[in-house]
Amino acid sequence: MKIRKAIVPIAGKGTRFLPATKEIAKEIIPIINVPMIHYIVEEAVNAGIEQIVFVTAAGKFSVEDYFDRNLELEHFLERNKKFKELELVKRIGSMVEVTSIRQKEQLGLGHAVLCAKDVIGDEPFAVLLGDDIVRNRIPAIKQLMEVSEARTGAAVIGVMEVPKSETDKYGIVKGEIIDEKTLRMTGMVEKPKPEDAPTNLATPGRYILPPEVFSVLKTIPRGAGNEYQLTDAINVLCQRREVFAYRFEGERFDTGNVHGYLEATVDFALKDPEIRDRFLTTLRERLLKNGISL
Ligand code: G1P
Repeated sequence: MKIRKAIVPIAGKGTRFLPATKEIAKEIIPIINVPMIHYIVEEAVNAGIEQIVFVTAAGKFSVEDYFDRNLELEHFLERNKKFKELELVKRIGSMVEVTSIRQKEQLGLGHAVLCAKDVIGDEPFAVLLGDDIVRNRIPAIKQLMEVSEARTGAAVIGVMEVPKSETDKYGIVKGEIIDEKTLRMTGMVEKPKPEDAPTNLATPGRYILPPEVFSVLKTIPRGAGNEYQLTDAINVLCQRREVFAYRFEGERFDTGNVHGYLEATVDFALKDPEIRDRFLTTLRERLLKNGISL
């Protein structure tokens, strides 16, 4: 069955980006001039997703507005003959169908996904978490869709290797190796301490899940951090049906923290032909002015 819908939870308060997130949604903070959420939605759209389901909270209206038309701005740009900008703005406004569901209490990722149950209905779906931007010619979520398709619609969890010391930041999978990139999962655990981690294969927030996960989410108790964890539901799912973990290809940036955000900004600037040369000159000048030689 074709994956048509993607859940993108955006209810988090973005405390690591305070004070900016006091008044603006974390997802709207741009990397250069493109809001972080744009990259996530673009990944889904490039993978063929037709509907984005944002699970939101108070103060996130700007994310919904961003993917809506802005007729006043369009008229302004037209009047001022700024046609390139006009095209850009129009394209974003008609990029994809967006639905928003409120998560009234922040009870964890599992709870956020469950909030979207009625909009998803009885079909498999994707989940993309906004803190990780993955750049690749074939979108990461598309790679997982292809694995799912090849394995008769099985659940597929995107994974990457992390240093053992970082396992307590992620959901960690375990299972039997099928090939270089694929694991048949036997379970999953949320943020284990390095000494308890079964592997160093972490989930940076890309999932293909069957609708059955909703009924599991209704039954799981609170887990790590006293929250309802998607990881715990996937763990149950592994006991019931085939679930695969797949090491997708792509360069991943953890933009959920200031350092990763800065890294992404520098990298995107270096990869942008219109920005690169002048940015390099600026970088060299700044290093010099700060007495840094590399
Ligand atoms: C969530 C998930 C975790 C996953 C991570 C990826 O944790 O619970 O399994 O590995 O996202 O970013 P959070 O970072 O929201 O605490």
